[in-house]
Amino acid sequence: EKGGWSSFMAKEVAEQPEAVANTLLGRITDGVVEVPELTEFGDDALARIRRIVILACGTAAYAGQTAKYAIEKWTRIPVDVELSHEFRYRDPVITDDTLIISISQSGETMDTLMAVKYAREAGAKTISVCNTQGATIPRESDAVVYTHAGPEVAVASTKAFVAQISALYLFGLHLARVKGTVSHDELVHFAQQLQDVPAKIAVTLENGKAVTELAGWMADTRAVLFLGRNVGFPIAMEGALKLKELAYIHAEGFAAGELKHGPIALIEPGQPVFVVVPSPRGSAQIHPKVISNIQEIRARGARIIAIAEQGDAAVLPYADTVIPIPLADALFEPLLAVVPLQIFAMALASAKGLDVDQPRNLAKSVTVE
Ligand code: F6R
Repeated sequence: EKGGWSSFMAKEVAEQPEAVANTLLGRITDGVVEVPELTEFGDDALARIRRIVILACGTAAYAGQTAKYAIEKWTRIPVDVELSHEFRYRDPVITDDTLIISISQSGETMDTLMAVKYAREAGAKTISVCNTQGATIPRESDAVVYTHAGPEVAVASTKAFVAQISALYLFGLHLARVKGTVSHDELVHFAQQLQDVPAKIAVTLENGKAVTELAGWMADTRAVLFLGRNVGFPIAMEGALKLKELAYIHAEGFAAGELKHGPIALIEPGQPVFVVVPSPRGSAQIHPKVISNIQEIRARGARIIAIAEQGDAAVLPYADTVIPIPLADALFEPLLAVVPLQIFAMALASAKGLDVDQPRNLAKSVTVE
């Protein structure tokens, strides 16, 4: 079933262009996003939403944190992202104009299921983003937007992650159209950005192979840090999670702006730091700030691996390694930037002789609370 790949994870990482393309299929009509499942849910019901709470665990929660930026920008509706297990037991504020969006690859994660049931009983409408047809969480929800990543076998989630972000972007653009918060021209532009993602992931898969060379000298590293800002922040967190679960190395993701508020104390000579660099075009305000973060840690001896837009010259003097990603609007960069981080975690686990498909202590589907 691995079809010539060394692991299911390697196969699933490579399948990411199709995972996104299949998730978009039938959901863009006349150049704009129209998700039939959401049309069925009802434009009136969507127009009534005043607050969105995204519930998920692990990688799915990072997909939610990534999509928060786009959904808020496009719909002007506040979005909170909460870990399902933290939400359920703290008497959260739920009103009938709150929309709950759960995200779950398996659709069976007990923490998320319990949180969805709880919210629904409290009067919220619930939409499920799920990769498994007919699973329990979609059955317990008012509507479902399936991701069509195909079965994910490796324990570490990869292609489901990019499909989840894509599905949430479809949701955001559908809702923005219903609410009229994004102009028609921009709706067309963003739908095109989404449709361009699969080909750009394919390029990133090629460029990303360069990280495997790092695995050799990093196999004995005790800690790896990941920095990102804005949509790059949840990607840094996701890169760290992949490394923890696959290579059993202590890894931590930080918001780059937080560095001087504490984490910079961790930097000592030789410390590897991955930095997800925002685009100098699309994120002109924060790009120089992240470059100066890189300079600060480089001056303290950090080894910098930068994931940066191709042609970003500002990063070159300070990075030990640059992994270029194709040009995309700022909000679409996470779908590309995550790929080299997945490849790196997989390469480091392999370099350490570990089973990348079945990391120790983990199960693919966590069906207990
Ligand atoms: C990480 C990973 C887990 C899952 C989490 C949620 O690689 O696989 O963090 O993302 O357990 O699982 P689902 O999406 O099935 O609810």
